Amino acid sequence: MPYGRHQIDQSDIDAVVDVLKSDWLTTGPKLTEFEGALARYAGGGHAVAVSSGTSALHCAAYAAGVTPGDEVIVPAITFAATANCVIALGGKPVIVDVEPDTLLIDTGSVEKHITSRTKAILAVEYAGQPCDYAALRALADKHHLFLISDSCHALGARYENKSIGQLADATVFSFHPVKHITTGEGGAIVVDDPELALRMRRFRNHGIDSDLHRRSDAGTWFYEVAGPGFNYRLTDFQCALGLSQLKKVEQWIGRRQAIARRYDLAFQQTGAILPLTVKENRRHAYHLYVVQVKGGRDVKNRAELFLALRDKGIGVNVHYIPLNMHPYYQRHLGVRIGQCPAAEAAYENMLSLPIFPAMSDADVDYVIETISRLIER
Ligand SMILES: Cc1ncc(COP(=O)(O)O)c(C=O)c1O
Repeated sequence: MPYGRHQIDQSDIDAVVDVLKSDWLTTGPKLTEFEGALARYAGGGHAVAVSSGTSALHCAAYAAGVTPGDEVIVPAITFAATANCVIALGGKPVIVDVEPDTLLIDTGSVEKHITSRTKAILAVEYAGQPCDYAALRALADKHHLFLISDSCHALGARYENKSIGQLADATVFSFHPVKHITTGEGGAIVVDDPELALRMRRFRNHGIDSDLHRRSDAGTWFYEVAGPGFNYRLTDFQCALGLSQLKKVEQWIGRRQAIARRYDLAFQQTGAILPLTVKENRRHAYHLYVVQVKGGRDVKNRAELFLALRDKGIGVNVHYIPLNMHPYYQRHLGVRIGQCPAAEAAYENMLSLPIFPAMSDADVDYVIETISRLIER
């Protein structure tokens, strides 16, 4: 049993096969359709679909105007790509601590790290729960900063009745197989500003100012490279898969929430397994179900529980080793252990339990019973 898993049915397969038999394997009509559906679902004006969540972050940081020497504030608890997209543009990720109970970026710590070189705040909706956007928006407005949401965990999440794509200036998604929907590999950025969407569409296609279709319609071979860029395109058959998956996302999030409630109820009593706090004004999309392991009589800590559960075929995982503990960031950014105490303390005890829509109630009960037996024995 893995900690996360994709779900593919016959309608997904048919959608992909249709495109494979069509004229457009890449950057065709399914791309436009997928981008439209995604923008509507996530609640933004425009979506730009790209080859991964990592390239989506690169596009968003580029659209934010990050250039060499700029600082971008990122939380310690996240995947490496959140920081790497800033470094790729010559910027400096400034790693700040997280709230101990939610592991979301600590807005007090963000404020302390704002300098004259700060260009953007890159918040992470860790596990699927939105950050404190009232505070983040106030800080961004006060200091004229661009606000990016790394929502790779949070498609379908909401904050105070706003969809996840309506909270930041640019919102980034991943469609890796463990995420809410998959395109194999893939990602997207949702923005309201059409200029930003244009900038990112160029960036995903070598900085070229017009696409193949428009050149062909205009009967011209002429194009110009108007800015930097890469090949971050998403194929049409991947977009067809994404469109087909998007139809099921609400049902899948409902299932993720039901699994989370079952875990919540089971662990409430134990005192040995503490789920993360979920704030009242937020809809959690539960990409991950993360607990803090306080230990029991036999299994004393997270490390022991991790091995014992893996031994029983339960694919638990750890998300994440804080950024300031990685050698590359220590060398490149001068960060060190001790700098983010809440993140580091959480890391010692955290464990991600399996959660994915195809998990049956019996699967969930097996995880709960196995953990209960191990900690109570
Ligand atoms: C928080 C976060 N940001 C970015 C990424 C990168 O996404 P991708 O794997 O699609 O490149 C991930 C992937 O796991 C992630 O968890």
